[in-house]
Amino acid sequence: MLRPKLIALAILVCVALWLGRGMAIAAQSLLGRETAPQARHCALDRWLRLGRGPTLASLARGQDLYVGTAVNLKALGRDRQYRRQLAQEFNLVTAENDMKLERLQPRPNQFDFSQADRLMAFAADHQMAVRGHTLVWHRAVPDWLEQQDWSRAELMAILENHIKTVVGRYRGQIAAWDVVNEAIADDSTLRDTFWLRGIGPDYIEMAFRWAHEADPDALLIYNDYGGEGLNAKSDAIYDLVQSLRANAVPIHGVGLQMHVQVNAAPSPDEVAANMARLAGLGLQAQITEMDVRIRQPSGPDDADQQADIYQAMLQTCLDAENCNTFVTWGFSDRYSWVPGYFEGWGEALIFDNDYRAKPAYHSLIEVLKNYSTAAPD
Ligand code: XIL
Repeated sequence: MLRPKLIALAILVCVALWLGRGMAIAAQSLLGRETAPQARHCALDRWLRLGRGPTLASLARGQDLYVGTAVNLKALGRDRQYRRQLAQEFNLVTAENDMKLERLQPRPNQFDFSQADRLMAFAADHQMAVRGHTLVWHRAVPDWLEQQDWSRAELMAILENHIKTVVGRYRGQIAAWDVVNEAIADDSTLRDTFWLRGIGPDYIEMAFRWAHEADPDALLIYNDYGGEGLNAKSDAIYDLVQSLRANAVPIHGVGLQMHVQVNAAPSPDEVAANMARLAGLGLQAQITEMDVRIRQPSGPDDADQQADIYQAMLQTCLDAENCNTFVTWGFSDRYSWVPGYFEGWGEALIFDNDYRAKPAYHSLIEVLKNYSTAAPD
């Protein structure tokens, strides 16, 4: 009985706030001041969800748990449904591409923060945390940088300038930075990259030290794929971060990307063991880019199998003493990178092309429901 009245009241309050906000914006624009478009967002969407069940973010609330996703800034700009679902379901965002080097520094020492700033504004407006992705990677290196011969000292200066400018700009606003991304190759040796060739293997520790100087409170992460379970690659990652720790390099965690196939996902026991050995080094483990791709056309069991994998990995994170971050690489299949990158694969995310929840979404909700009732206040 009370609920319809409550909803009516909530709508009234929201409409009043929205009108008030609109008048404030009109007044500000008369005075010539700018307002971010996202600031016009009203909590109406959230109120209207009353009675529609919990969301990932609502279940994570108060649990010291980040449930996040990578954001496509083009979709954020033009797709209302995308914005709404993003704000409702997640409490952390990361830029799918817009904080990579080629985007932030498209010309020598000329930075373009316009897209990254839009994401920061959206996050602030919706009380979401932000992961920074990524400072040093063998990809997303712009031509001006890659196609010139630099001395070691010049390259070090360029990297230091990039890291300090970017990390410094968002100092205090980024929960965790992927400082170095994918530095280990599939054969488990250090990847032969532009940075390794130009600076030598210590580019990795330099990057962490510069990032730490620029934002001493940010968690600094080494992020990679294929080393989620126990295998030669995760051993190589372990050895790398162990030696960084031994040399007092400011590194605080390892990101397990978790781009996996529905028929070949790592075993949850192995992921748990991997997280535990990282905890033994005093490091956090985060699931940073999860998607579970399905060979196209999909078969009748694929969606349920995919749901089991999402569920097991979130549960593994929650059970680990050192994992409080679970991020998917996008949320709707509509904008997933998978079909464009892995030919013949798709349907990797938790909402379908039309934003309908898939079994994978419901499986995550179930895990969080159990967790939030089991966890002490
Ligand atoms: C991908 C993006 O999703 C694509 O849009 C882009 O074309 C290439 O990069 N590991 C990472 C991410 O760390 O930055 C990659 O993102 C996916 C693999």
